[in-house]
Amino acid sequence: MDSTSQDLQRKPLQVTDLEIVEMEGEDIDEVLDIENLCFKSPWTRDAFEQELAIEWSKVFVAKKPTSHKKRIVGYICLWVVTNEVHILNLATHPNFHRHGIATSLLIFGINFSTRVGAEVATLEVRKSNLPAISLYKKFAFEAMGVRRRYYSDNYEDAIVMYSKLTA
Ligand SMILES: CC(C)(COP(=O)(O)OP(=O)(O)OC[C@H]1O[C@@H](n2cnc3c(N)ncnc32)[C@H](O)[C@@H]1OP(=O)(O)O)[C@@H](O)C(=O)NCCC(=O)NCCS
Repeated sequence: MDSTSQDLQRKPLQVTDLEIVEMEGEDIDEVLDIENLCFKSPWTRDAFEQELAIEWSKVFVAKKPTSHKKRIVGYICLWVVTNEVHILNLATHPNFHRHGIATSLLIFGINFSTRVGAEVATLEVRKSNLPAISLYKKFAFEAMGVRRRYYSDNYEDAIVMYSKLTA
């Protein structure tokens, strides 16, 4: 990774009172709280620790100031490989749904990815996850296929979505 992309990932994005920065080890407890609230089969601590160790993986957290500290309210995990970014995980704390946090994380994640060379974005989403599908459609993601019985907890199908990115 060159110095420009290193600068980019260190530079926080300030959206009103929301700050988006790269996740650090000390953030994992708060991220896990949200993960456990949001998913039937949540990622484990090991999974997040592994993401921190993978060179091409980026996890960005959205922080909101409260009276005594900055609280993590959402996160996004991306893999940028050659010209493609794959969105592996995205969640917002249920107390902050519909506040534009996932939108801010996607804007930040996609901007970061295009700056480091991504031209297309892909992701998988549960067929029943209409809030997430609606969100991705706002970012011009289109369904390009189905992975049958993809999720091992209930064998639900995954919709594979694709978006051509513009810098
Ligand atoms: C999907 C999720 C990430 C959206 O987060 P959010 O911060 O509430 O999203 P935003 O406030 O940025 O909403 C942006 C758009 O998403 C869509 N959306 C979000 N929540 C929705 C809901 N409950 N029903 C329908 N559409 C919804 C809408 O299009 C919304 O735009 P609008 O508010 O102008 O109508 C959040 O509901 C979540 O964490 N869900 C559990 C985890 C998950 O499913 N992650 C995605 C895995 S693929």
